[in-house]
Amino acid sequence: MTQTAHITLHPEFQIGAIDPRIYGSFIEHLGRAVYGGLFEPGHPTADADGFRGDVLELVRALDVPVVRYPGGNFVSGYNWEDGVGPVSARPRRLDLAWKTTEPNTFGLNEFMAWCRRAGTAPMMAVNLGTRGPDAARNLVEYANHPGGTYYSDLRKAHGVAEPHQIKLWCLGNEMDGPWQICHKTADEYGRAARETAKVMRWVDPGLELVACGSSGRGMPTFGAWEETVLGHTYDMVDYISLHTYYGNSANNTPGFLARSLDMDRFITSVIATCDHVKAKTRSRKTIQLSFDEWNVWHSIASWEEALPAPWVEAPPLLEERYTFEDALLVGSMLITLLRHADRVKIACLAQLVNVIAPVMTVTGGGAWRQTIYYPFLHASRYGRGVALDLQTRSPETNDPELGPVPALDAVATQDPELGTLTVFAVNRGAKALALDSSGLDLSRYRVVEHLTLTHLDLKAVNTLAQPDTVVPRPNGDAALRDGALNAHLAGYSWNVIRLAQTTEA
Ligand code: AHR
Repeated sequence: MTQTAHITLHPEFQIGAIDPRIYGSFIEHLGRAVYGGLFEPGHPTADADGFRGDVLELVRALDVPVVRYPGGNFVSGYNWEDGVGPVSARPRRLDLAWKTTEPNTFGLNEFMAWCRRAGTAPMMAVNLGTRGPDAARNLVEYANHPGGTYYSDLRKAHGVAEPHQIKLWCLGNEMDGPWQICHKTADEYGRAARETAKVMRWVDPGLELVACGSSGRGMPTFGAWEETVLGHTYDMVDYISLHTYYGNSANNTPGFLARSLDMDRFITSVIATCDHVKAKTRSRKTIQLSFDEWNVWHSIASWEEALPAPWVEAPPLLEERYTFEDALLVGSMLITLLRHADRVKIACLAQLVNVIAPVMTVTGGGAWRQTIYYPFLHASRYGRGVALDLQTRSPETNDPELGPVPALDAVATQDPELGTLTVFAVNRGAKALALDSSGLDLSRYRVVEHLTLTHLDLKAVNTLAQPDTVVPRPNGDAALRDGALNAHLAGYSWNVIRLAQTTEA
């Protein structure tokens, strides 16, 4: 049976400009993300620097504007100096975050070379666990100072004549989490972050800095953490971070697909806290949000038990196999980020390769796209420009925790330069939806394509042997009639309806 759903859209009703950096991602020294993922000297597709060509191709297609690096939990025990200079002289270290051995054959300069080849920019994290302002300011000097000082000349001696000019930096990672190496209280972290920000900016005044927010909305210190940290750092930072992962351990599809509403509440709560501190301090500055870790991660609750025998080098870790159902929630999470385009300016799908990732590889073998690759690809390619404040009406179900859950989850984006309008829509329900629109008269638009991602089996996955089990198809029936949009949204589906102004418009 088909139910009806309605959207009202108009280019005058705008949420805000979409910062392309909301389509960022993340590479941590964790499992096979670096070693056997993006870096594998000797692989048949590897270039002279050891970067896998098959991975680069899949990453380039995603058009990822920023990649966060080198962690994650890893960064809280990392000595950045271990990863620069002659490879033969680099130390092998115990990585206490993931209980593995870090060979340090890949470090800052290799990452920067990889970014150039992938067509992306770095979002670098500094260690505020075992280290602090001194290591951070030295790293900024090494990376960004032109020359004539100890660390900038060291970079030159390492064969990198020009400064990397890394603009975006995270002040530590998840410092609110007891699992973090040298976890801190909000006051301890707030003070450390402030002083670190200060000296980093003194080395390079052009930096953009992200303070650690909570590692999840469910953290006992959530809210109070943000308020205290921003109380210490408000005038020194530009962004506060948010992290969230959702799983479906109860195998409850409606509950799982509703989790994007939790993400929405997380965002609105952090905005409220930022603006509360703004009011208290009578600041003219607005802190923006960096949702720098988000994804589906089913085994998050048991990651510590899943760690392999300790001190193995690059073992397979957190290699989640994503289902079609997971792609639907990832689609809704992207829609949620777009709905907050006015305040969420950076977001990183965590992660990019092998570790809870859209791109998977076999060490020494092939690479393939997981199901979640596709909604991310579509949003990154077509969700640029301005996010529109779409009003939606659709049937609802009730989630015991989150309340009413509309079957239709949708947002629209407009690229005024290209004259395009794109509707992204997830049908969270099992029943098809007959969608129509009001608001803007669409007579002067045409449907470019209606992409759909659907599958009869919610648990279907892509594998190296069967990479095309869950793939998008341009088979949707979106049409324009009397200036309105009509489309059939299949039960459990991801839809991208691309409209373009006709030349006579
Ligand atoms: O992305 C995997 C891990 O999840 C990161 O290292 C950490 O920041 C988060 O808890």
